[in-house]
Amino acid sequence: METKQIAILGTGSMGKAILSGILAAGTSPADVRVTTKSKASADAIFSNHGVQATSLESNSAANSSAAKDADLVILAVKPNMILETLSEVAAVLKPDCLVVSVAAGITTAAMEEQLSGNEAVVRAMPNTPSVVGLGVTGISKGSNVSAKQLDLAIELFSSVGKVLVVDESKIDALSTISGSGPAYVFYFAEKLITAAKSLGFSEQEASLMVKETFLGSATLLATSSSSPEELRQQVTSPNGTTMQATGRFDAADLERVFIEATEAALARAKELGRVKP
Ligand SMILES: NC(=O)c1ccc[n+]([C@@H]2O[C@H](COP(=O)([O-])OP(=O)(O)OC[C@H]3O[C@@H](n4cnc5c(N)ncnc54)[C@H](OP(=O)(O)O)[C@@H]3O)[C@@H](O)[C@H]2O)c1
Repeated sequence: METKQIAILGTGSMGKAILSGILAAGTSPADVRVTTKSKASADAIFSNHGVQATSLESNSAANSSAAKDADLVILAVKPNMILETLSEVAAVLKPDCLVVSVAAGITTAAMEEQLSGNEAVVRAMPNTPSVVGLGVTGISKGSNVSAKQLDLAIELFSSVGKVLVVDESKIDALSTISGSGPAYVFYFAEKLITAAKSLGFSEQEASLMVKETFLGSATLLATSSSSPEELRQQVTSPNGTTMQATGRFDAADLERVFIEATEAALARAKELGRVKP
């Protein structure tokens, strides 16, 4: 990333994933400053990553000090803290600063309104595999974002995985697929482990079989030119054992279940978006 002064306000799971990504992509620790609530978190980040880390516990003006003169301000506090954090830093933001929020449910319009209305604001929805550099992040731009600033946001999240630019009207829908998606995958892993144990395998054996099956299948899916359907058919001989199992999924109308599940997640996202934090 071209030399930029970067501030990360709120450096928990997601903030740390982004921090690790940008450092791995070549950003110098000297160009990054981060904030946390507790001194213990700030101290741990400083010792693990060597970036300037300040807690609100030790300096109540930590957020505005970090954001002052930054080219890029990343907001990774909890959604209910976003507007308050923006109001803390509004007065010190550089005119051409790009503000990027990863908070679920907080619109770019709400963020612009909290600032002067002229700032460049991007809303992003990353997912937890960002922690291992294999995330998917959806990003939507607010009303004052230039093409160069959008490129900067794309570059930022490319350091922790793949990026999809979508209209903000679609970001909640995206969150029901890639944002919540890791939970769906872990849910299936849990259920398959339970099934393996019911067949007499130990926890350790079941866990190894399931983890490696997920890892191997995901890697095959990512590297093969075949579609998921073709890869499934390769494992499913006509009238064989796998077909008996997938026939049960069909009988349970799993496709309908997936559609209903994502519709339910979308309805909740819309509900949360209407609640003032
Ligand atoms: N985790 C995900 O999968 C995921 C996915 C997409 C989007 N997001 C979004 O990412 C944001 C953060 O989520 P998270 O899971 O990373 O939460 P988290 O692990 O709880 O991290 C929150 C961070 O904010 C710090 N903090 C709290 N109040 C603060 C304040 N007033 N000023 C500065 N820092 C403050 C906390 O400090 P301490 O460390 O001292 O507590 C912590 O470092 C949320 O808005 C969420 O919607 C998360």
